[in-house]
Amino acid sequence: MTTSQAAFNASAGTSPVLHLEGVTRVHGRGAAEVHALRDVDLKVYPGEFVAVMGPSGAGKSTLLTLAGGLDSPTAGRVLVEGTALGGLGRKKLAEVRRRSIGYVFQDYNLIPALTAAENITLPRELDGVSTRAARREALAALEELGIAQLADRFPEEMSGGQQQRVAIARALIGERRLVLADEPTGALDSATGESVLALLRARCDAGAAAMMVTHEARHAAWADRVVFLRDGRLVDESVSQDAGSLLV
Ligand SMILES: Nc1ncnc2c1ncn2[C@@H]1O[C@H](COP(=O)(O)OP(=O)(O)OP(=O)(O)O)[C@@H](O)[C@H]1O
Ligand SMILES: [Mg+2]
Repeated sequence: MTTSQAAFNASAGTSPVLHLEGVTRVHGRGAAEVHALRDVDLKVYPGEFVAVMGPSGAGKSTLLTLAGGLDSPTAGRVLVEGTALGGLGRKKLAEVRRRSIGYVFQDYNLIPALTAAENITLPRELDGVSTRAARREALAALEELGIAQLADRFPEEMSGGQQQRVAIARALIGERRLVLADEPTGALDSATGESVLALLRARCDAGAAAMMVTHEARHAAWADRVVFLRDGRLVDESVSQDAGSLLV
């Protein structure tokens, strides 16, 4: 889907894949209180690739964890494909996260006791996909990321960049309609980083929505839209070509 198609979706009454409504997240109490996010409103539509930028501590990872249902807002609502995550029980929430949301963590979060392929197949098997079919999907995803030969290695036997690519493969397999990635290119060389961005772009062009935290304007240029956070507030939004000017 092109940028104009994504914009068309936004104006034609298409429902957003992700909708944050007045989302606030406060950590701690009293003197230790930290407003990680303040009254954030954001909609991400099918086909849209959104980059999230801002200084360290601005609330970028908090925004992603809330969007992915890994944390709950202090105030406001998070809706994924029209379902308010706050209204779901633990089991139902875990199901939505497995089925609809692919998440690439800032520190990868691979399960140390499982191989690369097993890390990728676990959520699929929990969803009822057969071991054989899940393995086939995992190998295809690893191939796409250029690390098919690492399928049977454990995380501790891989470099940081290789682990990061396994985490990306895990987020991309299945029918995930919302892909959330926290600095997914941090440990990658520039050519590998660009290929990961191209994969995310292709996933959005096929109709998914993605939100990616990045510190690099060059990477944000792959997105349709850049949202900029400062001190927990969404302070600016622009089309990606303007990302460079937001950094100065
Ligand atoms: N569990 C927590 N308890 C207390 N404060 C927290 C917690 N998690 C995050 N914070 C605070 O919330 C604010 C936002 O943190 P967050 O991790 O979202 O920032 P970030 O924009 O992702 O930063 P970075 O670029 O360094 O990854 C920071 O001030 C942080 O210290
Ligand atoms: Mg962060």
